[in-house]
This record gives sequence, C-alpha cells and structure tokens, in this order.
Amino acid sequence: MTNRKLIIGNWKMNPGTLEEAKKIVAKTKRVAAKLDHTDVVVCPPFVFLPQLAPRRSVKHFHVGAQSVYFEESGSYTGEVSVAMLRDVGTEYVIVGHSEERKRGDTDEIVAKKVKAVIDAGLTPIVCVGEISRDVEGASHYEVLKKQIQNSFAGVPKRAGRDIVLAYEPVWAIGAKESMVPSEIYEMSLFVKKVFSDAFGPETAVKVTILYGGAVNFRNAADIISIGKVDGLLVGRESLNTVGFVELLKAVDAVK
Ligand code: PGA
Repeated sequence: MTNRKLIIGNWKMNPGTLEEAKKIVAKTKRVAAKLDHTDVVVCPPFVFLPQLAPRRSVKHFHVGAQSVYFEESGSYTGEVSVAMLRDVGTEYVIVGHSEERKRGDTDEIVAKKVKAVIDAGLTPIVCVGEISRDVEGASHYEVLKKQIQNSFAGVPKRAGRDIVLAYEPVWAIGAKESMVPSEIYEMSLFVKKVFSDAFGPETAVKVTILYGGAVNFRNAADIISIGKVDGLLVGRESLNTVGFVELLKAVDAVK
C-alpha cells in the first residue's frame, strides 16, 4: 500500500449533457486541489473528454477514458484509438470493465487493449473480478487467477509497475452493499499475489490496487483502512457531487 490514494470516478453513460458534465468536473477539481494524499481521475463518456481534460495540469486531478480500441487506426467503425485519447489530454484508460466484458471483451481483447494503452504512454486501469462467489468450493479464486493471468498475457514485465489493477467483484457492482472490508483485504492480497507471480515481487509492490463495487461516502474510508487497498473505483457515487466530495474528504483523512 502506498501513502497516496487514487480515486477513479467511472461515470458510465452519464450525464446527459456537456453542461452537467462540466459542473461535476468543476466541483471535483476544486475539491481535488485541496486534498493532501489523494489523486482523483474522472472518466466521462468519450464525447466529453476534449472539453473536460485540463489544458494545463491541475493539482491531483486527471481525466480518463472508459474504454479504447487496440488497433492504431483504420476501418473500425465506432471505435476510438489510444492516440486519439492521448491527443485530447486523456491520461488513464479503464480496460476490461465487467460491463464491457459482458458485451464481448474477452481476456485476450483486454490484454491487447492493456498493451495498446501502455505503448501509448497512458495508464491502464485494468478491471478484474469474479461474477459470483462459490462459498462451498471457493472456485472463484481460480476463476479470478485465470482472468488476471490472461488479461496481462504478453504485457512486458517492466510495464507492470505502471498498471492500476481494480478488483471489482461483479456481484457488488451496482449493488446496495459493497463487499465487506475484511474480505476486500483478503481478496486484494490474493490479487496482488497472482500479479506478483506474473510480474515479480518488486513490480507487485509498486502496483496500485483498487476496489470497486457499491462504494459510497459512508463505506469508502473503511474500505481503504480495513481493506488496505490503494484506492477506489467509484460508479454511481462519482456522479453525485455531494456524496463524491464527502467520499474524497473521507478517503484523504485516512492515515
Ligand atoms: P458502482 O459501480 O460504484 O455504481 O457499484 C462501480 C463500477 O462499475 O466500477
């Protein structure tokens, strides 16, 4: 666990207008500038990125994309490349979110995207997580292990330290309650161990591990302090400016 914390807001297909998006960013930026130990990344829909990415660097505030395509250019209708994202000031890219995996992104596609993002000099936020828990047989450990190994297949070892790895149990995404913090701790250790086996222990110490799934301003501090993760991937609460501001302050106050 590093001293600094990383909070990512994944807006998904929200809000409906650029004006609303600008308001959320303005508020988030103001709060981010006052934080001591926390960096904030907001990930709006593609169309808003050029307007929301800061032209000059803003303290503790960055912009990320929710997705990307791995090819450099060409006949790929509807897709966006890493070079395009970089050109408009994007610094982070979410890869392999479960909602994209559900729509067809396999581990193989995720690995290609991770490589493309790293090659472009951007930071991938790679999402992994089991769809359900197998309380009896604990088979979800094996499922998660395979998913992590395959999602990084072919990614060079030296790139490992610049990866953000978001553990998001799919059953907790959009749910009422997050995973309990003590279990988050256990799972984050497991995720780190698998990552360490793939990239080596020195790299694994540097990797940033996030938790995501039903995070809000009430549970955020406990997830950081008891779950011992380096940060959070926040969906719904990142669009609720009042709640998100409280969440950022609560996380920043965790020693
Ligand atoms: P949620 O979404 O915080 O709304 O559960 C998390 C995510 O999908 O990353």
